[in-house]
Amino acid sequence: MSRIAYTNGQYVRQADAMVNIEDRGYQFADGVYEVIAVANGRLVDGEQHFDRLERSLEGLRMDPPCGRHILPLIIMQVLRRNHIVQGFIYLQITRGVAPRNFAFPPPDTASSLVVIAGRKNLPASLDMAQGVKIVTVPETRWSRPDIKTVSLLASVLAKQEAIDRGAYEAWFVDKAGTITEGASSNAWIVVDGKEIVTRPLGQDILAGITRQTLISLARESNLKVTERPFSINEALAAKEAFVTSTTAFVMPVVAIDDTQIGDGKPGDVAIQLFDAYRRYIDQATDGL
Ligand SMILES: Cc1ncc(COP(=O)(O)O)c(C=O)c1O
Repeated sequence: MSRIAYTNGQYVRQADAMVNIEDRGYQFADGVYEVIAVANGRLVDGEQHFDRLERSLEGLRMDPPCGRHILPLIIMQVLRRNHIVQGFIYLQITRGVAPRNFAFPPPDTASSLVVIAGRKNLPASLDMAQGVKIVTVPETRWSRPDIKTVSLLASVLAKQEAIDRGAYEAWFVDKAGTITEGASSNAWIVVDGKEIVTRPLGQDILAGITRQTLISLARESNLKVTERPFSINEALAAKEAFVTSTTAFVMPVVAIDDTQIGDGKPGDVAIQLFDAYRRYIDQATDGL
């Protein structure tokens, strides 16, 4: 069965979906995006994703393609037409189609909207049983990773370096020697006394939706969460480490740059948080 995508007002077979070669997303990576998990046919933390999308649009001084209340309607149509109850939505907005020019196009240029959906089993305990390896790479991204832009080249190169070195994810290290975040995930460690540490929000990291939900869930479970920068040395000496993202949920880290973390197995805190997050998703997407 062919997949159906939404592009600029039409639901079309994904194989037939076209982007104009003068779309500014194509020429300048002048666009923003969101990835949202779908469970039980519903969006996980949809409102938080739409809030972040609005912040990204504002950050790039870009007009939304439609009213905020329209986006969920389009997304649900795409899910319905693809018969997806579990998986992910990818949504991208660019500054539209105009003759190539660095400066913004005329104000009446419509933003482009693309929505695609994929069916996928959401992460289960088994997926995190082995844990994953991380490599560290210098922070080479621009100074606004808090804007979820499709301009992702530094992250693409970092992720490929991770894969080339047999790892799952790359953690960026800034000039001060602290970890900012992963190429496509937020970074966490667990230090003495089960204190959970993750970098505070700022312009230097993406405000992960999973990160925010997990902080709340951890605090509800009476775990101590501290939002502060942590160094690469602190990470190497940590009892546990893990990453969070919409697609991975909570993924335990068992090695960083070939240094074993803890006992080299997924840590108790990461497992506890993964279970709490799965329960949260089931509850949040259950019912009518
Ligand atoms: C750079 C970066 N940090 C963090 C995240 C995690 O964000 P979220 O939990 O909203 O998926 C992502 C997700 O794609 C990301 O690309």
